[in-house]
Amino acid sequence: MSKTRVGIINVTGYVGIELARLLCRHPGVELVSVTGRSAAGQKLKKVFPNLFNLDITIEAKLGEADIVFSAMPHEESAKEVIPLLKKGKRVIDMSADFRLKDAADYPRWYKIEHVAPELLKEAVYGIPELYRSEISGAQLVANPGCYPTCSILALAPAVKAGIIEPDIVIDAKSGVSGAGRSLKLGSLFSEVDEDVCAYSVDGHRHFPEIAQELGIINSGEPLKIIFVPHLMPMTRGMMSTCYAAVKSGKFSGKNIKEEIRKIYQDFYANEEFVRVVDDPPHTKHVQGSNYCLVYPNYDQRTGKLMVISVIDNLGKGAASQGIQNMNVMLGLPETMGLDAPAMFP
Ligand SMILES: NC(=O)c1ccc[n+]([C@@H]2O[C@H](COP(=O)([O-])OP(=O)(O)OC[C@H]3O[C@@H](n4cnc5c(N)ncnc54)[C@H](OP(=O)(O)O)[C@@H]3O)[C@@H](O)[C@H]2O)c1
Repeated sequence: MSKTRVGIINVTGYVGIELARLLCRHPGVELVSVTGRSAAGQKLKKVFPNLFNLDITIEAKLGEADIVFSAMPHEESAKEVIPLLKKGKRVIDMSADFRLKDAADYPRWYKIEHVAPELLKEAVYGIPELYRSEISGAQLVANPGCYPTCSILALAPAVKAGIIEPDIVIDAKSGVSGAGRSLKLGSLFSEVDEDVCAYSVDGHRHFPEIAQELGIINSGEPLKIIFVPHLMPMTRGMMSTCYAAVKSGKFSGKNIKEEIRKIYQDFYANEEFVRVVDDPPHTKHVQGSNYCLVYPNYDQRTGKLMVISVIDNLGKGAASQGIQNMNVMLGLPETMGLDAPAMFP
């Protein structure tokens, strides 16, 4: 039987090249076409020597493919995706262009008018642990942002179980590759090394995504979320530390910490890629993998839930989660091509 043909738009960015690295060894599909504006006509292995085994040429225009990943910047991505959808192709969009359900959020958070608001209700938000059945039949999957993936997976069990008050604080940290491969002053080694800073403190673009999805889990009731991202001097990795008061009267036993852990363990009992762990996880425990490690804790002194989650921003935060979505869409085993453990150190 012939394999499903896969294409990548914009292989020259960090997400695109991570997709190529994972797809070239995926046993269920064939990577047939990759595009990249700045490197069109060159061999991929010449531009990215780490992929020396992959003999494919970067094209200016996408060739024939059955399922396509768009790893373009937002706004540009929709322009590529819409004609593909019209041709009946299935698409996994790595950008933010189809993640938000309310078109009014795009001018507010991205300073753009959405070019196809009618597609926002058709697009399925691509966290398989939450939307598996919708993803399986979807034509368009909006692959989530990295901060939203890390934060939503940390909080979903507590919000779903109704054990926390609506005031939530998310303190999140990202490696520099989260900012992409384009040249930026703030991404220079000498600016980032030995430095830590908070940014977008008055409102980061990933906030509406987190609020949207946690609000849906909270039966449509909005939550009051503070989300503060930080830039860390590391290449890959992301951590969300989330705090919320536990509702009074929710737990009768003495060991609230264990009862909360049980809620989390039950929520993720059948999930390969989200693991409830016994100790605070490190970003290095998931580097290069599709895993998300979640550590729920209860602070006895303040009565607060404290959840720590880690992902690789280019893995579960982008490329490998996209491939997990592809596996679900194609009816392949969800772990196919993704079950390698993290790199360490
Ligand atoms: N980095 C992450 O951790 C992460 C996580 C989740 C989602 N995402 C999303 O995934 C998408 C790709 O992210 P990334 O980090 O891979 O980005 P990136 O590394 O910054 O990719 C940027 C590349 O896009 C191309 N590009 C830039 N502007 C363009 C334009 N106007 N038209 C055509 N091509 C353009 C450029 O390549 P050429 O010069 O070769 O055209 C550039 O090298 C983005 O939408 C991003 O928000 C990123």
